[in-house]
Amino acid sequence: MSLLRSKTSNIFRGLCLGLLLIFFGFNKISAQKHVEFFPKEDLMPIGSYYYPEQWPHQYWARDIKKMAEVGFDFTHFGEFAWAFIEPEEGKFDFKWLDEAVELAHQNGIKVIMCTSSPTPPIWLEQKHPEILMINEYGVTMQHGSRQQCSWSSPVYREYVSKMVEAIAKHYANDKRIWGWQLDNEPSHYGQYDYSPAAQTRYQQWLKNKYQSIDTLNKTWGTTFWSIRYSDFNQIRCPNSKELIAQPNPHAVLDFKRFSADEANDFLGMQYKILRKFILPEQWITTNLMPEHVDVDPTRITSLDFVTYTKYLVAGYDKGLGVQGFRMGSPTSIAFANDLFRPLNGTTGVMELQPGQVNWGKFNSQTMPGVVRMWIWHAFAGGNKFVCNYRFEQPLTGGEQYHYGIISTDGVTPSRSGLEYIKVINELKSIKKEYNPNAVMPKDYKSRLTAVLYNPDNRWEEDNQPQSNQWNFMQHLIRYYGALKELNAPVDVITEDKDFSKYPVMVAPAYELLDAKLVERWKQYAENGGHLVLTCRTGQKDRNAKLWEMKFAEPIYQLIGAKVSFFDMLPDSTQGTIKMGLKSYKWNNWADVVEPMPGTQVWATYGDQYYAGSAAVIHRKLGKGTITYIGPDTDDGALEKAALQRVYHEAGIPTVSLPKGVILEWRDGFWVGVNYSDKVYNVSTPPNAKILIGGKLLAPAGVIVWKE
Ligand code: GAL
Repeated sequence: MSLLRSKTSNIFRGLCLGLLLIFFGFNKISAQKHVEFFPKEDLMPIGSYYYPEQWPHQYWARDIKKMAEVGFDFTHFGEFAWAFIEPEEGKFDFKWLDEAVELAHQNGIKVIMCTSSPTPPIWLEQKHPEILMINEYGVTMQHGSRQQCSWSSPVYREYVSKMVEAIAKHYANDKRIWGWQLDNEPSHYGQYDYSPAAQTRYQQWLKNKYQSIDTLNKTWGTTFWSIRYSDFNQIRCPNSKELIAQPNPHAVLDFKRFSADEANDFLGMQYKILRKFILPEQWITTNLMPEHVDVDPTRITSLDFVTYTKYLVAGYDKGLGVQGFRMGSPTSIAFANDLFRPLNGTTGVMELQPGQVNWGKFNSQTMPGVVRMWIWHAFAGGNKFVCNYRFEQPLTGGEQYHYGIISTDGVTPSRSGLEYIKVINELKSIKKEYNPNAVMPKDYKSRLTAVLYNPDNRWEEDNQPQSNQWNFMQHLIRYYGALKELNAPVDVITEDKDFSKYPVMVAPAYELLDAKLVERWKQYAENGGHLVLTCRTGQKDRNAKLWEMKFAEPIYQLIGAKVSFFDMLPDSTQGTIKMGLKSYKWNNWADVVEPMPGTQVWATYGDQYYAGSAAVIHRKLGKGTITYIGPDTDDGALEKAALQRVYHEAGIPTVSLPKGVILEWRDGFWVGVNYSDKVYNVSTPPNAKILIGGKLLAPAGVIVWKE
C-alpha cells in the first residue's frame, strides 16, 4: 500500500520536475538549481552502499531484504563495477546489475546508480597504458586500486564516455533509479597528474586564459631565473620534485586551478551523456572529500549538486578532550554541511563512516553513540540524505577490517550498525512533527553569517605560507568554529552569491582580490552589513601579483587603516595582544596596522619592537561596520572575542556555547550535538517539545526539540 502511494506521488513529482526542466532548459546548471529533487517532508532518507559484485549471488536477496527490514530507504550500486559491466571491450553485461536493482525495488529500496569511471578494467589499461596518470615522482600509477587514470587522457575519456552511455541507455527512464553518482571521490587522493595528457591540457588551459605567451610571461614574472617561454607548448606542469628551487608561484596557482577545472570538465562530460537519457527528476551528483583541496567543490559547476564523504575517526583528528579522537572535531561535519549546502542549496552525505575503518593513521573504535550523533549532525546541517558506507563488512580485498552495518558473519548488525538503525527509527518518529510552515527563529536568523571562501586563497597561501605555522584552513576554521560557538547559522559562500542577505560576513585571509570585490564589500557595509576581514587580506591581485602600490593598499580606505607590515614569531615564542582588560597570545602571524582618523583600535600588540601598535581595528561605514583582525593565534581566543564584540556592537544577540556543542535549526527542528567531554545542560525555552534525548546533553549525545 505505502509503496503504491509513494509510487503515485513519485510519478506526480516526476511530471512536475519534467515540466520545470523543460521550462528552464536541460543543459543549464542554473536551471538545474531551480529543481527541488528532495521533498522537504521526506526529511532525510538514509541509505547504505552495497556491492552485489562482491558477494556470492545467493546472498543478495538476504542482504537487500535485511537492508529493507532495518529501515534503509535506498542503496548505492556500481561505482567500482566497470570490469563487471564491460568485461570485454564493447560487450556490456547488465544482467547481474538488473537483478540487484530489481531486488532493491521489490524490497521498496531506491537505487543510487553510479558510473564506475574510477576503476577501469585491466583489459583497458593493458591495451592503452597511456590512460594512466603519472605522479610527481614520475611514477605511472597502475591497475590494482582506483583513480589511477588521467582525466585529461582523450583515450580514457572516450572509453568512459562509451561506458557511461551504455549504462545511461540501459537505465534510461528506469524509475527504480533514484539518482546518479558520477565516479567516486574524484581526486587522485592528494596526488596531481603529471602525465603528458595533463601537460597538453594544461598548456591549452593556459592558452585559453592568457591568449598570448607574452601575457603569460608578464603575469608569471618569468623574467626571473630566465624562465621565459616563447611558446605554450614549452610549459611543463610545475613540479617541485623536478626543480632545484621553488616553482613559480603563479604557475602553481594556475596548475591547481587547472587540475580542479579538469575534474569538473571530466564530470561534466559524463553529466551531459547521462542527461540525454535519464529521467529529468533523476539527479546527478558526485561525492567529494571536503578536506581534499585538489578537487574543489566550488568549481564543480557541471552537476545538479555535489555531496560529500566523511570519515572523522581515523587517527588524524584529535577532536576535543581525551576521548576526542573517537568523535572527531565539532567543525568537521559542520563545515562540510555549511560549505556544500550553499553551493546551490542542495547537498547530501554520500558516505558516512560506519564505525571502525581500516585505512587511517590508527583505526580506533568510535565512541559509542557518535555514529548516531554524526547522522543527526548531518540532519541539522540541511542534508537531503545520508548514505552509510557500507552495508556488509568485506571479508576479502583492500578494505578488510572496515566496519559495515552488518559484521563479518553477514547477518549480525555491528555496534554502529545498530546506531544507524536507531536513527532511522528516530527520524521516522519525528516525521509526524514536521511543520512545512516552520520559519527560522528570529534571533537565530538575525546572526546569519557568511564566511567568504575562495580556494585560490588557500592554494596561494599554502604554496607561499611565509611561516611553517601558517595553515589557511586552520585559520579559517578558527573563525568558523568561533561562529558556531556563538550559535550563528553559517553559509560558507563564494563571490558569485548575494552578500546582502547576511547581517555579518567574515572573509578570512582573503589575499587575492580586485577593485570590484573591494567595492562590493564597501557597499555591503554601507548598506548595513558587518564585515570582518583578517590578516593577509588584499595583498595581491587575482593572478597573485603584489600590488604596485603600498603594501595591501587596495583595502586601506575600506578598513580605515594602513597595513604597515606583517610579522611572525619562532614557534617557541609567544607574543601578547591586549584587548580590553584581557591579554591574548599570538605566534603564527601578525598584520600590524596603522589606523586612520575615525578608526577605533580594539586591540594592540603587547610586545616586540612594535608594542602598542594596532592589532584589531574597527570602523563604522554607512549603516554597517568593518573590523580588521591582524593576528592569527593558535587558540583562537582573540579571534572569538573580537567576533563576539562585532555582534554585540551591532546589537545582534548571540548565545555562548561551550566548544564542542553545536545547536542548529532545520525545518522546524532544533538539533543539539555534543563533541566535548562534558555534559552540557541545554536551555530549551518553556514551550519546547523535546522529541529526542533530554536537556542533559552527554558527550556523543543528541537532543532534538521543536518550539
Ligand atoms: C571512501 C571511499 C570509499 C571507501 C571508503 C572506506 O573515502 O570513497 O570507496 O574506500 O573511503 O572508508
